[in-house]
Amino acid sequence: MLLEAGHELLVFDDFSNSSPIALDRVRELAGPAAAPRLQQMQGDIRNPKDLEQAFTKAPSGIDAVIHFAGLKAVGESVQHPMHYWDVNVNGSRCLLEAMQTHGCHTLVFSSSASLYGYPEAVPIPETAPIAPINPYGHTKAAVEQMLSDLHASSPDSWRIDCLRYFNPVGAHPSGRIGENPLGIPNNLYPFVSQVAVGRKSQLQVFGGDWPTSDGTGVRDYIHVMDLADGHLAALDCLLAEEPQLLTLNLGSGQGQSVLEMVQAMEAASGCSIPYAITDRRPGDAAISVADPSKAAQRLGWRTQRGLKEICRDGWAWQQQNPDGYT
Ligand code: WQD
Repeated sequence: MLLEAGHELLVFDDFSNSSPIALDRVRELAGPAAAPRLQQMQGDIRNPKDLEQAFTKAPSGIDAVIHFAGLKAVGESVQHPMHYWDVNVNGSRCLLEAMQTHGCHTLVFSSSASLYGYPEAVPIPETAPIAPINPYGHTKAAVEQMLSDLHASSPDSWRIDCLRYFNPVGAHPSGRIGENPLGIPNNLYPFVSQVAVGRKSQLQVFGGDWPTSDGTGVRDYIHVMDLADGHLAALDCLLAEEPQLLTLNLGSGQGQSVLEMVQAMEAASGCSIPYAITDRRPGDAAISVADPSKAAQRLGWRTQRGLKEICRDGWAWQQQNPDGYT
């Protein structure tokens, strides 16, 4: 989408949880005229030398950074909290210092609804208390605090937007790029997809006695293409307006249950998805749904795609790439 909008891009990635093949496919989708505008560099966000190389590699400098470089598995963060604090928080500190050194003061940050913890009420507005319940959520809250302090130190310079994702799912409609979790998927959507394609035999539904319509957990699933649209809208807003610190929920505002997700994937794939209802997963909340009205008001952005499109596009990716990027 950034290439289609005419931007010059440098993707900086350590490829610890992604594949360079994905970037080859992005170039393929963008077409031969746009492909040269996508440069890439393998590096570690915690290594100032790598960051220095990135900022000097771009011939006309870096105008803005969209910061996705972080670890994001809740369960893994509980097992290895110091690794999460190092990559997500120390890594962000190194990036921000490199941005300051090179006079780059525009940042879109990939934050997360997991910093809300157990919501007091749903839908959840940006003003809801920040009360993370796992190291992953704590690191996202810590980076948001870092960004708030940085902006306060120089409010006439910094243009920052913290985007709090709810539950990103789906894939590019071409089926050429999509979610490719390493190992056993922690999240519902990739697990359901793998059951549909036959890589997993059965879904475990974590709890059937929640206070919801069908007793299973309810979440706000956002199509990854809507999420991408939200990033472009956030970037355009920062580049067009006065320096500011903006914090926005990116979600649909609609909740769907685990069983509704299973039914939608069965309809999209034509495959049955066997499941068994088991105990609740520690740390889960019953319901998590965004109040997306601030993003609508500040960016003119709302989700355009629902569960049907999410499962249609995710199934196309899963069917065409049953073993991910190989
Ligand atoms: C969704 C629902 C589970 C798996 C995550 C994390 C983090 C964030 C995305 C970025 C819940 C149920 C799940 C399974 C199940 N990423 N479930 N069986 O926990 O809402 O939050 O959101 O910030 O990764 O915060 O997502 O997909 O793990 O769970 O029944 O095998 O599916 O109980 O109700 P979650 P999830």
